[in-house]
Amino acid sequence: MPKRIAVLISGSGSNLQAIIDATQSGRIDGDIVAVISNKAGVFGLERAANADIPSEVLDHKSFESRESFDAAMMELIDGYNADLVVLAGFMRILTPEFVRHYQGRMFNIHPSLLPKYKGLNTHQRALDAGDKEHGCTVHFVTEELDGGPLVVQGRVSINLDDSSDSLQQKVHVVEHQIYPLAVEWFCANRVRWTEDGVIFDDQPAPAEGIQYISE
Ligand code: GRF
Repeated sequence: MPKRIAVLISGSGSNLQAIIDATQSGRIDGDIVAVISNKAGVFGLERAANADIPSEVLDHKSFESRESFDAAMMELIDGYNADLVVLAGFMRILTPEFVRHYQGRMFNIHPSLLPKYKGLNTHQRALDAGDKEHGCTVHFVTEELDGGPLVVQGRVSINLDDSSDSLQQKVHVVEHQIYPLAVEWFCANRVRWTEDGVIFDDQPAPAEGIQYISE
């Protein structure tokens, strides 16, 4: 059975697009059954429409609390019977209840080589630290922000003339490679999170995640 995927966005949705492309090409054995945004009018919603994927806007500002917003989100997502929830630039902190509900079946992508640089401004922080490399990571979501077990990581080198913007662009290219890959693995039951950590092809995955080497 193809897996049912819900993608949560707040913005441009370029990672959403990469996953749409990989479902349409048949590389991912799954269907995006819903795109849900907490902001109206964002470009990611247009991408969903262009791909004939149902979309929903649930504006967090019209809820009294984080808890009530997350409860409504859960109801919405579960109404689509999603097997996998993909956070793709979804700029909301999630409640523990929400995170626990989707434990082991929710991915996030973060623009750093986790566990380095959790939170925001990752590109500038890598530059300020004088790092030679930077990258992005797909991880299972836990209650700790950007702290869940790592699935796959892709690297870029930092050049002397890199700015935060140029780094962001380079990292985005790799995001669009590793996010569809992680979703592909999940949908093919090749990656899962168990009590023993992340299992990839029936073996424990390295703590730093599978290292992706771009072609
Ligand atoms: C990406 O940089 C991702 O790493 C972060 O949010 C951004 C989303 O970009 N979590 P897009 O909306 O997929 O273009």
